Amino acid sequence: MFESTTIDRRKFLQLAGAGALAVAATPKWLFAATNARYARDASPDFHPDVEIEISAIATTAPILPGKPTNVWKYEGKLLKGPEGTLAQLPGTHLGAVFFLERGQKVRFYFNNDLPEANIIHWHGLHVPQVMDGHPMYDVPAGSGYVYEFQIDNPAGTYMYHAHTHEKTGQQVYKGLAGLIIVSDPEEKALNLPRGEQDLPIVLQDRSFDADNQLVYVQGMRDRHMGFLGDEMIINGKRHFVLPVATRPYRLRLLNGSNSRIYKLGWDDGTPLTVIGTDGNLLEKPVTKAFVILAPGERIELWADFTGRKVGSEMLMKSLPFAGAMPGHGEGGGMGMMNHGGDAAKPQAEGHGGMGMGMMGGMTGGGGMGMMQHGNETAAKGGEGAAKTEAGGHDMGAMMGHGGDKPAQGAAGADEHEGMGMMGTSKLPQGSEYALFKVHIMREESAPLPLPERLIKFARHERSQAENPGQPRSIKISMMRMKWLLNSKEFEMTTADAAETVKLNTLQVIEFDNGYTQTMGMGMMSGLPHPMHIHGQQFQIIERVIRDDQRKDYETVSPGFVDDGWKDVVLVMPGEKVTLLKRFDDYKGLFLYHCHNLEHEEMGMMRNFNVI
Ligand code: C2O
Ligand code: CU
Ligand code: CU
Repeated sequence: MFESTTIDRRKFLQLAGAGALAVAATPKWLFAATNARYARDASPDFHPDVEIEISAIATTAPILPGKPTNVWKYEGKLLKGPEGTLAQLPGTHLGAVFFLERGQKVRFYFNNDLPEANIIHWHGLHVPQVMDGHPMYDVPAGSGYVYEFQIDNPAGTYMYHAHTHEKTGQQVYKGLAGLIIVSDPEEKALNLPRGEQDLPIVLQDRSFDADNQLVYVQGMRDRHMGFLGDEMIINGKRHFVLPVATRPYRLRLLNGSNSRIYKLGWDDGTPLTVIGTDGNLLEKPVTKAFVILAPGERIELWADFTGRKVGSEMLMKSLPFAGAMPGHGEGGGMGMMNHGGDAAKPQAEGHGGMGMGMMGGMTGGGGMGMMQHGNETAAKGGEGAAKTEAGGHDMGAMMGHGGDKPAQGAAGADEHEGMGMMGTSKLPQGSEYALFKVHIMREESAPLPLPERLIKFARHERSQAENPGQPRSIKISMMRMKWLLNSKEFEMTTADAAETVKLNTLQVIEFDNGYTQTMGMGMMSGLPHPMHIHGQQFQIIERVIRDDQRKDYETVSPGFVDDGWKDVVLVMPGEKVTLLKRFDDYKGLFLYHCHNLEHEEMGMMRNFNVI
């Protein structure tokens, strides 16, 4: 099944070196009479150690055999800085990889050479508001933006991706994302696998049509649940195989999928040794039977192949889990939370019925038809489901052979597939499937012991927070098919009182995904939400789960790695997660949102205003 398509680390490094040839070159438009190109220009007072030109372009990538796939890509060019600052993962849609050092001053000349607006966000990095790639700064086609900031994060695996207003999900899907690997002296002092033994692995799922072209969201259901692709594309390649020697490796895994959650585990039951999370190494390694990796999360593994037989293979899988689909929980998960006045109105409009339709949809199929048009289509949705034959004809459209079929066909297709709410992906959320293979190619002894201690971890204390007893509670709900945060949708430049935070304070924040039943909040979401906060990394201090969700929850919760620095936290249905986060250095608007990118694109996002 698996062909040997791998990162060619040597080529990877050669390409990294090639970038250095361009040292000291300066982009020509810098000398133009008017620098109209950039919505924000370079500042003469900023003296960068590293200068990079990064262009968003439409191009093609040889992802599958045969015809190349049209993709969008962040192409990087090193203008100034140490050799090896920039590397490409060859032949993929993924953006250049940036290797940066803590303390470096970096300037990015971002050129938007796409036919639509775009802006880049540096996910996980602590930068000022104007450098953070907030969608209010997205720039039109042909324009650009100059970013200038100092790397103020500890060693870790970060990323950058499009954060364009109402287009994040679709743009990331087309390829607009890449890795940033930061190192620092504390990490360099450790004896960790390096160079060809330090490997990034970007997990993404994609669907393709018969012409090898990417297929994205096919209707309201994909949008609502989040898009799930039909197959795994890892480091931009299908059937990814990692050739290794019998020695330890550092594997940096990024979940770069729009909405897919992975439950990582080796097929032979070998435990995983975790050495890092989103924003740094852990204080000490942690051993897990499996690890959950939600969209936007990163995990660093110490993978030791010592003693393995040359010629043998190991398979990294996503293992089965529950609780990722609404209504599969013991308690159904979709209970109405709203008994107030607002409920009456949606009922009358037929929107109230949608939610109920979702519940029905789980068993009867066709429920999603209702989601699209309310009561009127609720009936049709049901019909579509009943007429499996008719729906079946539309399956091609759903599975990505083009065409834009309405929800009725979608419902029928689901029924035909026998998956109901599981959606049309060939790899349903929570099912079991292969991710990548490791091939033990050769003997190589490297007496590299796993360090007992990794970094000094500065633990936040709840008692030091500004609000130790009154967490800023962010309640996740759904109303009229919209995902809401404290009953509100996205507002570009607004933050309410609960979202207004004093500069240089530690805050207790909680994400409540239906743990607390609140009147007038809309419906419980019934889905997991990977919640992300811009700015500084946070620490997770508590998780609580509703009793009626506990059984499903326990299929994932042992795989959470909550001991380290985090910028995304998966909040399961019926769960409340409490965290501690600092808001230092920069005033202004910093986003928090669901990193299910369809949810984000639909407005499951708000601002913190740091004052
Ligand atoms: Cu990776 Cu605002 O997101
Ligand atoms: Cu971010
Ligand atoms: Cu979400």
